[in-house]
Amino acid sequence: MLIDRYNRVHNYLRISLTDNCNFRCFYCMPEEDYAFTPQAALMQADEIERLAKIFVGLGVNKIRLTGGEPLVRKDAGAIISALSKLPVKLSLTTNGVRLHDFIDVFKESGINSINISLDTLQAEKFQMITRRDSFHRVMDNIGLMLDIGMHVKINVVVMAGLNDNELLDFVAWTKEVPVHVRFIEFMPFAGNRWTGNKVFTWQQMLERISDRYSFLPLKAGVHETAKAYIVPGHKGTFSVISTMSAPFCSSCNRIRLTADGKLKNCLFAQDETDVLSALRTGADLERLIKNNIAAKAMELGGQFNKNFETLKADEVFNRSMIAIGG
Ligand code: 5AD
Ligand code: SF4
Repeated sequence: MLIDRYNRVHNYLRISLTDNCNFRCFYCMPEEDYAFTPQAALMQADEIERLAKIFVGLGVNKIRLTGGEPLVRKDAGAIISALSKLPVKLSLTTNGVRLHDFIDVFKESGINSINISLDTLQAEKFQMITRRDSFHRVMDNIGLMLDIGMHVKINVVVMAGLNDNELLDFVAWTKEVPVHVRFIEFMPFAGNRWTGNKVFTWQQMLERISDRYSFLPLKAGVHETAKAYIVPGHKGTFSVISTMSAPFCSSCNRIRLTADGKLKNCLFAQDETDVLSALRTGADLERLIKNNIAAKAMELGGQFNKNFETLKADEVFNRSMIAIGG
């Protein structure tokens, strides 16, 4: 088992398949030109499978594939199929643009839940955020996923002054459509234009939503990062991921593998362990992995705390989100 100094058991591995993406969301990618990792430096499909098996041997029973955008990788389908044979609950986080090409893969692999990023319900704003004209394609694909019976979670990064005025529209969407909208507090990453005053907090969100709706809290699992609510009578739900204003680090069970094969024990971890090189040279992987987890900081990579108002994004030492993988 992968247990850290604070007795947290890590059974949930997020694997980034690539740091490439067919969108250009400003909050995820640095402003200056970003050089995608060359193919040879990425974990190859067989290496992902071998690493995943080692983690499963160490107690991992849940794997989420992330990116960049995981589905831009040519062998994404093959990787999904291979990992689906492991004794894990497999899922993925995607921008939704290519989902229509993966319906068969999902069916064969038994994937029944998917997270789709969508920060606005307005086509023009979508283009402004992602710098791509794919709003209708993503909306159609959300419909397709619902049609095939998928549990669909929608990730909305809420940024004050940009899309906080759409919270009520998103909640209204859950009335007839069984989507599970997750409002995520805006987090600081290298080069992503984050400032403390762009964080729209959990508290502010609930206040805004209560302007129009009464809602009830839903029971949460122990490792649940999202605090979930339902408006009685609605087919979907909404929840808030309060990383900034109320971090949930004490029950964290997550670890991450970047697309270039580095293990991060926290989204905000400064230290990384190069497990891909270790795999390639035949080093003692289990020991490396265990040491990495043992060194996990108590909260937020040891880099900041919930008093984020005075924090500067540049003071947080990290990769950009696209290079970490959500
Ligand atoms: N703050 C909060 N969430 C972010 N994501 C990407 N960048 C940020 C950020 N700066 C979200 C994406 C995706 C998920 C993996 O992380 O929208 O849904
Ligand atoms: Fe791509 Fe998602 Fe990052 Fe947007 S947030 S650039 S869709 S990886």
